[in-house]
Amino acid sequence: MLFGTDYYPEHWDRERWSIDAKLMKKAGINVVRLAEFAWVLLEPEQDKFEFEWLDEAIEVLASEGIKSVLGTPTAAPPKWLMDKHPEIYPVDREGRVKGFGARHHRCHNSPVYKEHVKRIVKKIAEHYSDNENIAGWQIDNEIGCHDTTRCYCDNCLKAFKVWAKEKYNGKIAALNEAWGTNFWGQGLGSFDEIYLPKFSTCEHDKSNKGFSPGLLLDYNRFSSDSAIDYQNRQIKIIRSLSDKPITHNTMQGFVFSDIDYFKLGKELDVIGYDNYPFVGMYYSDFQKMHQYNAAGLAEARGFKNKNFWIMEQQSGNFGWGFYFGKYAPGQLRLWTYQSIAQGAEGIFYFRWRPCTYGSEQYWFGILDHDGIPRKRYKEISQTGSELQKVSDFIEGSKVHADVAIIKDYDNQWAHSICSHSPKLKFNDLYYQYHAGAYKNNIGIDFVSIGSDLSKYKVVLAPAFNVMNETIKRVFEEYVLNGGNLVISFLSGTRKKDNSVVTETFPGFFKEMAGIEVVDVDPLARETHVTGESIDGTASIWLDDIEVKEAEILARYNEGLMNGKPSITVNRFGTGKVYYVGCKLDDSSTEQLIKQIADDAGVISYLSRNYENVEVVKKIKGDKEYLMILNHGVTPVSIELEGKYRELITDSYIDDELELSAFGVAMITK
Ligand code: GAL
Ligand code: ZN
Repeated sequence: MLFGTDYYPEHWDRERWSIDAKLMKKAGINVVRLAEFAWVLLEPEQDKFEFEWLDEAIEVLASEGIKSVLGTPTAAPPKWLMDKHPEIYPVDREGRVKGFGARHHRCHNSPVYKEHVKRIVKKIAEHYSDNENIAGWQIDNEIGCHDTTRCYCDNCLKAFKVWAKEKYNGKIAALNEAWGTNFWGQGLGSFDEIYLPKFSTCEHDKSNKGFSPGLLLDYNRFSSDSAIDYQNRQIKIIRSLSDKPITHNTMQGFVFSDIDYFKLGKELDVIGYDNYPFVGMYYSDFQKMHQYNAAGLAEARGFKNKNFWIMEQQSGNFGWGFYFGKYAPGQLRLWTYQSIAQGAEGIFYFRWRPCTYGSEQYWFGILDHDGIPRKRYKEISQTGSELQKVSDFIEGSKVHADVAIIKDYDNQWAHSICSHSPKLKFNDLYYQYHAGAYKNNIGIDFVSIGSDLSKYKVVLAPAFNVMNETIKRVFEEYVLNGGNLVISFLSGTRKKDNSVVTETFPGFFKEMAGIEVVDVDPLARETHVTGESIDGTASIWLDDIEVKEAEILARYNEGLMNGKPSITVNRFGTGKVYYVGCKLDDSSTEQLIKQIADDAGVISYLSRNYENVEVVKKIKGDKEYLMILNHGVTPVSIELEGKYRELITDSYIDDELELSAFGVAMITK
């Protein structure tokens, strides 16, 4: 199994390279990622290439049995190139040109940049395609990072016109209809009049700044497509010269969703994913950290519906000019196992050693600034040697899941364009539903609407709003054939052009759900919700539901809607459609999903819930095993039935598993 680190030999004297390679080997590291930002070092002047230093680094590493994955250095266009072609710089909404000095300072639609990218990528691929020490390729770096997916330059304007003309088959009337340009007299006479949603007159309104929601959704789609095209051009060049796997390092779904990673993943051999558990903590609350992190990893698994590589796995504290993330001893090992549990089968720690200069001075590595191996080196070495022992179980294993949650970028973007309520954060709702399965020890996959839903007993589509007839049929078919679909307020209420449906809400789901929503309270205070197996609260959003065919599962128990239905279920074909008309609190969401899963015959992997414990069931050939992880700071003892073999320690346990703080086990019958 690939067990590696991200190494920047260019940051250190050559004498150090062999010391590093030896230390890596001793730690069980068998692969590194190299050269990700090294364009100017590989091509200091146009068409003057210098590969000698990289050849040597690869050679030094190879002499210790370490292979290299090469990054294309295109996230760092050199200064000489930018001086020659300043039109490559991206432009923000206010027309400000983003200058030199950091990275990703390029527009994905710049024709001249595309040419230069082609040259450097081809040159590198030609130079290294026959090198037996190359294990694979990574395209660019976190495309879209630092808010660079969306650009407002003239090249983007031109490209947007072409994109729109193609999408609307050259019919400007169709575009006018889709964008609803009759509103505020925004009609366009030709594709030439198309504009970008730049700085305009309604900046005070944060909900959509006055632009057509249809235009904004198309602009998001276009920006995502532009980034993907930028990636795919590089893939094409490399693939024509090398047969080694190609990846790209994607970012965590709960902090970044500007690019449709299902689409981006299509041309890749393997999804790469950058896993920084503390980014989760930084953006949400600590308790939710491991759950969000599990979700991010499961999403990465979903993009190609297969195992993936972690191109950057957290290896210590982190920060740029200051520290903003701290790890505890044992967590680096734990987080590595969490990645593996959720489907990673290659791990690269970011980074080998923190750089003493540059903007990321406090982004840690396996070593310290002084290059001395200490506790992190020890912990990671131990993890590596454990993993090699169980690698047969890991490689090619499948995560088992009876529940799926629909990941859909049109929906994600529509929610960021119109958040429906100033208080509603789509991600909070979305990951809350994921938690409903995760916290109940039930396997959950993130899937696109185009994937096979029939293998799941329960499908979650909270606030899934952007739809068309085809998507409606997908859901109908799933339920008619016995599936259990969970939808919520706002589900089914928009069309693909981001306009609101004219059917009574829940629009596309009206018949399936057997209810009608006759009013909404989008600014709701906390309200008691009770039902046979629900006793909790809802806030932010309450639907006023009139039941047609459905059965009532819970009601509001106070306030203006006291006594009215809040959660319903409707039989449809041989399946069921659950409608959750309000934003429940976390614990009632967990209760509800548990109830639905039980009813659907989903079996929890553990006999009860344990705080801060994650469990994943994996299948490899005819073997099944559970990975159980304690994210908590206190030991926990887990009840099991019967005798199990623990794979990491190769020992046997009876009826009870003791896990230390941050402890991990892989158990099989
Ligand atoms: C990632 C990026 C790395 C490094 C790291 C720390 O987003 O891919 O190159 O910058 O963050 O900031
Ligand atoms: Zn641009």
